[in-house]
Amino acid sequence: MHKIHLSPSSFFCPKYSSHINNWHGHIPFACDLVYYERPSLIVELGVHLGDSYFAFCQAVKEFNLNTQCIGIDNWQGDEQSGFYDEDVFYKVQNYNNENYFKFSRFIKSDFDEALNLIEDKSIDILHLDGCHKKENISHDFYNWFPKVKENGYVLLHDITINRHDFGVYQFWEEIHDNYPSYSFFHSCGLGIIQKNNKSILSLGGITFDSSNNSIKDHYLYHSLRITQFTNKSDAHII
Ligand SMILES: C[S@@+](CC[C@H](N)C(=O)[O-])C[C@H]1O[C@@H](n2cnc3c(N)ncnc32)[C@H](O)[C@@H]1O
Repeated sequence: MHKIHLSPSSFFCPKYSSHINNWHGHIPFACDLVYYERPSLIVELGVHLGDSYFAFCQAVKEFNLNTQCIGIDNWQGDEQSGFYDEDVFYKVQNYNNENYFKFSRFIKSDFDEALNLIEDKSIDILHLDGCHKKENISHDFYNWFPKVKENGYVLLHDITINRHDFGVYQFWEEIHDNYPSYSFFHSCGLGIIQKNNKSILSLGGITFDSSNNSIKDHYLYHSLRITQFTNKSDAHII
């Protein structure tokens, strides 16, 4: 049996989901990433209703880690996600206050304005999920990459969406060979980069080699398993 099959993602049951399911399939990987990396700091750019953000928070709480989580968003929306009302922020903040206030906080601002609030080389896990135009993801990536620690991870969502003005897939094509990286193709795609000079990404002693189908199959299987939690309408907290 491959080591990945015994990882915590096999048993993780998400407690939070909204009706926006684009990221749900990556919750099992988020769980393993948090478990094996034992991060000091997780930062997410683009929280919206919190589907990805609260998955990281749940893992931090369940594994009883000493991790700070920071979610950054202006909570106004953008051209791809659509624009939305102010009450979205208050609902997400309430859920955070009720469940994760000890280690999680939000910065309600544009990403560029928040840049000076985070120290260089301080982030263990950076999730980029803001505006998905090529110029925006490129801008966010190069602005925030210096904030990531050596051996830290950067996640980019939507690397498989090739419609309208989504351009993360083009940006991913350009950069992923420059770093140890791994691509998931389900749930709109998730690209993962590890910030070091090695050739292959590794996590918890597991080598994320793209030729190894066990890893892709494992996360695809568990992305489907967790839909029994995230697809239930009474699971949609917000
Ligand atoms: C795709 S949504 C995030 C989805 C979320 N991660 C999830 O799991 O469902 C993108 C979010 O990024 C925010 N956003 C986009 N560009 C931004 C910017 N430059 N500064 C702050 N927030 C921004 C939008 O307000 C929106 O809520």
